[in-house]
Amino acid sequence: MIELRVNGETVQVDAEPDTPLLWALREQLGLTGTKFGCGIGMCGACTVHFNGMAMRSCVLPVAGAVGADIRTIEGLDHAVQQAWIDHQVPQCGYCQSGQLMAAAALLDKNPRPTDGDIDKHMTNLCRCATYDRIRAGIHAAAATLPEPPPPPPPVEEPAEGAEPPTEPAADEVSQ
Ligand code: FES
Ligand code: FES
Repeated sequence: MIELRVNGETVQVDAEPDTPLLWALREQLGLTGTKFGCGIGMCGACTVHFNGMAMRSCVLPVAGAVGADIRTIEGLDHAVQQAWIDHQVPQCGYCQSGQLMAAAALLDKNPRPTDGDIDKHMTNLCRCATYDRIRAGIHAAAATLPEPPPPPPPVEEPAEGAEPPTEPAADEVSQ
């Protein structure tokens, strides 16, 4: 038995350590929302979250998931889901659980992605070519998320030869 943490619960799977996580999820745990497409890490239909990162479960041995926080589409609660409905993103739907997991992971790291960020991060394939609606869905979900904090001000390099700032003495501070 191998113990995993899936969608916030501790579960046991009866699988060889090198069994792909995808099959443990689908066949042992009945979490069939995660799909099999290519089986070689190319299409992204099997995308889950591994400690919050998008990960292709068809190429991840189940032993490699021990101790990680695994989340599947069944355990996702994210703004992307409503945005997908509002924008009617899916066509056949087969790739879309993987697309949603990848989009949620992107927005969790980058709540205001540009089109370029989306194109770079969203490497999941869609045979129905719903890419424009996926992009629209991501922007719509982003608009519902809180503004990210502003970046910290740049640290200025001290001028050449300048003395480094010194800590004030204790008696200066109290005055
Ligand atoms: S089924 Fe995993 S990437 Fe295609
Ligand atoms: S919606 Fe059909 S493959 Fe993506």
